[in-house]
Amino acid sequence: MQTILIVEDKKSMAEMLSKSFESEGFTVKTSHTVKDGIALLSAGDIEAVVTDLKLPDGDGMEILKFAKGGFPPIPVVVMTAYGSIEIAVRAVKEGAYDFITKPFDPDHLLLIVKRALEEKTLRMENLVLKKEFHRFLKIPEIIGTSEKWKGVEEKVRRVATLKTTVLILGESGTGKELIARAIHHLSPRANMSFVAVNCAAIPKDLIENELFGHEKGAFTGANEVKIGKFEMANKGTIFLDEIGDMAMPLQSRLLRVLQENEFERVGGTKSIRTELRVIAASNKSLEKEVAEGRFREDLFYRLDVFPILIPPLRERREDIIPLSRHFISLFSKEINKREPSISQDVEKILLNHEWKGNVRELKNIIERAIILCDGETLMPGHFNINRMAHNRIVLDAPLHEVAESAVRSAEKTRIENALRETHGNKSRAAEILKVSYKTLLNKIKEYGIS
Ligand SMILES: Nc1ncnc2c1ncn2[C@@H]1O[C@H](COP(=O)(O)OP(=O)(O)OP(=O)(O)O)[C@@H](O)[C@H]1O
Ligand SMILES: [Mg+2]
Repeated sequence: MQTILIVEDKKSMAEMLSKSFESEGFTVKTSHTVKDGIALLSAGDIEAVVTDLKLPDGDGMEILKFAKGGFPPIPVVVMTAYGSIEIAVRAVKEGAYDFITKPFDPDHLLLIVKRALEEKTLRMENLVLKKEFHRFLKIPEIIGTSEKWKGVEEKVRRVATLKTTVLILGESGTGKELIARAIHHLSPRANMSFVAVNCAAIPKDLIENELFGHEKGAFTGANEVKIGKFEMANKGTIFLDEIGDMAMPLQSRLLRVLQENEFERVGGTKSIRTELRVIAASNKSLEKEVAEGRFREDLFYRLDVFPILIPPLRERREDIIPLSRHFISLFSKEINKREPSISQDVEKILLNHEWKGNVRELKNIIERAIILCDGETLMPGHFNINRMAHNRIVLDAPLHEVAESAVRSAEKTRIENALRETHGNKSRAAEILKVSYKTLLNKIKEYGIS
């Protein structure tokens, strides 16, 4: 059901229009002033606006500006009095979808609004790949031309505008978070928050607090009420990353929240209602986790409504060169270098590499190569990918590679020792090594430490 906002100071007129929209299945919100209109718009959910221009506390153009300023822009139809055609034209120039002159047939207005909504949906669906879109939202551009990648994009396009729960599966570095953000930005909740929670990076005893917040006095040190991620994401999207690493007791709580849209803060009894879209991601096979008793089956089915599987980079090698060119351009701009081209040897190396770390590994390797490259062409010497895979100290290479391989090898040994010392307790190991928990996890991944 789509929600329409009607801003009209004449109450009888507002009522008549609202009945006409409701009889066609729309949900209608009405406001008689600019101020209330903007308040309703900022609360979210509204998909189209019909506004009068002359309002008691200001100009309907303010409503128009507000509706067009967010993302996605909300179509606005303005109603004008007979004889004020110049104002109507100005409104259209400012981005109004259309105008209608009073008096009018309500069915005519209905038609205009329906057409505006249809066009909006079409535009959204076409948007995911456009450059302006990414620049506008400040989210990374999405690259990929292989059939497998196009399949992923097709799924994104289909599900984004719905409220459906999405489960994104794929190896580390394949672009799960990127896809989650794209889905949020293509949805009608794009104006609301996207709140990401990395279930693996928050120590287990803190995660409940992070997700649900706490009441004042819930435990020693809880001097203030803390708002958790679920509350922050209200009306928006919550992204539960690495969901496969969530502890069992917390899985039960999560399931309850998803079923009832309700939870309590830690130490509280008051239920808090939320309305949000859930996107979860995992680099582990959740089916396997279920089979081995580490993941609740009921929670799995709750999340597995619309799965999107992102294939590893080695299974879509056509994407390697386009992605490489994209990252070359990105990093060259970042450090003000002329964009180098790729030599044929490099192309061969890139195409044949195993890419265990997927797109993230490719991105890191290109960044390093761009820093090292002074000429106009990237050469194999700028890449040390095959040597790096082994974490051995190399002695038959340019000096920077020798140094780098020595650092990697030493770090790897030190981390392994710290983990042995702490019997695998990563929070403690991070303390000993004086790095953040997140840094430690990244290094464990990068060096392939088990
Ligand atoms: N198709 C793509 N086009 C452009 N950039 C991409 C693409 N896929 C991934 N990237 C980039 O690669 C990096 C890794 O992607 P992302 O963080 O989304 O992966 P992930 O699957 O969440 O990884 P992890 O499991 O390690 O958290 C990001 O910087 C992302 O912007
Ligand atoms: Mg991720």
